[in-house]
Amino acid sequence: MNAKPEFETVVGKDLYYAVHKGIRLANARMLIALGQTDASDDSSVIRTLGALAAHLELSLQHLTHENDRIHSVVEARVPGGSDHQGEDHDHHLKAFADLRRMAEDVAAAGVDRAVKLRRLYQRFALFMADDLTHMHEEETELMPLITAHFSPEEIDGIEHSIVANIPPAKMAGFGKFMLGAASRSERIAMVTGMRQAMPQEAFDGLFAAIIGAPWTFGDWETMERALC
Ligand SMILES: [Fe+2]
Repeated sequence: MNAKPEFETVVGKDLYYAVHKGIRLANARMLIALGQTDASDDSSVIRTLGALAAHLELSLQHLTHENDRIHSVVEARVPGGSDHQGEDHDHHLKAFADLRRMAEDVAAAGVDRAVKLRRLYQRFALFMADDLTHMHEEETELMPLITAHFSPEEIDGIEHSIVANIPPAKMAGFGKFMLGAASRSERIAMVTGMRQAMPQEAFDGLFAAIIGAPWTFGDWETMERALC
């Protein structure tokens, strides 16, 4: 007899699967970058603080998509269904504010820059730990609730409304992490789907922004060298 799994994993359309894998990758890389930054090297500090600002911007965008496009429709059908995740999002907003303030402290620091950088690294690690737990709960509690109360067509509609509201300039940021975090077969399926759905010019422009240079469809090795 099979033991009951410890948590539920949605089979079928999962709004969180690909984007959360991307965010886990991005969080892990950001933590490593903060840890490897040499406080005595100005250019290293500037590069890492720039990466952190972009990372927090992307994280805020993701949280806003979830609030506007997922929580609002869940609440309309299952009142209170996304309460817990909504509270987590409020904690995330507090973490973003802390991290921005601590990054400013590092930028303005003098001889105490190493100490301030270490504090920023530690605060980011705590945020990441919270975010890992939060994303797991979204995938194993909120997504099963959505699957139970919405048809596959409605779930597709939620996903389309999220994607349609990401401005092209932000799409490259999500694309980098989502494609970088995917398995090769998932990556090929995602890129092939986008190629079929997008005008050639828009596809070429988006992938040049994602890879950092013009990219030819099917050149998976070049994509993986750039993103993985
Ligand atoms: Fe979330």
